[in-house]
Amino acid sequence: MLSNLVLYFCNYLVKMHNLSLKTCVLRRISNHRPIWKMNTLITKHDIFRFASNMIPSVEESPKWLDASDRNAFSDLIDSFIVYNDFITEDEERSLMNELNPYMRRLRYERDHWDDAIHGYRETERRQWNSENSSILKRVSNIAFPPTVSKLAYVHILDLEKSGVIKPHIDAVRFCGNTIAGLSLLSTAVMRLTHEEDDSRRADILLSRRSLYIMRDKSRYCYKHAVLDEKESMFMGQKIERDRRVSVIMRNEPNSDIARS
Ligand code: OGA
Ligand code: MN
Repeated sequence: MLSNLVLYFCNYLVKMHNLSLKTCVLRRISNHRPIWKMNTLITKHDIFRFASNMIPSVEESPKWLDASDRNAFSDLIDSFIVYNDFITEDEERSLMNELNPYMRRLRYERDHWDDAIHGYRETERRQWNSENSSILKRVSNIAFPPTVSKLAYVHILDLEKSGVIKPHIDAVRFCGNTIAGLSLLSTAVMRLTHEEDDSRRADILLSRRSLYIMRDKSRYCYKHAVLDEKESMFMGQKIERDRRVSVIMRNEPNSDIARS
């Protein structure tokens, strides 16, 4: 396997650089001795560049991230994170027990296809029972440094089974650099698409009971969308969508932007 890879490297380098390889000796990588011995001008840099073109990054891709290319990968690996199983089933139940009585009184909005979100109802909440306050405290501790001012109201977005969030960037007037969301009741696929180059994109698996944190580059330079049930695929696998409730914390907008 390794020797095939080495041959592949050689072929690639010969093709790309029009070099003729005369000798090429593979040494065991594990003992960190030089990998190549040859009478050509192939440098370690060439090998590295080849390797990093073949795979998104030398860093291993997390299981929840499927990036279109290594630019998207490197943008997102530093600015987006998913914590799977951030809350337990009991904690999910506790949040839903507090939210459901209120949400049930609202109608799902379905009429305006132009809107960014379709098939949803939403609210904001400031006061929580003590168990849920401590869950949200955990979210806030992991998402926001202590000096950051959080929005006092937590946003609750309830998407029905067929609901969808179309690609958008949250308004900079109303939200700072960080968006942290718990996904309740259903797994979903979030698609990030670079605002200026829509070939640069990534799908993100938001598992039920996970927490995602989107900040900086992923928040400002990528549109985010939550795919509808028909489109919900991740790494070629169908992802069943159901009603999904997200509990989203954001920080205050940058004060200069908010005033303008
Ligand atoms: C939004 C949004 C994402 C989510 O409300 O602006 O993008 O996880 N929500 O529900
Ligand atoms: Mn949004």
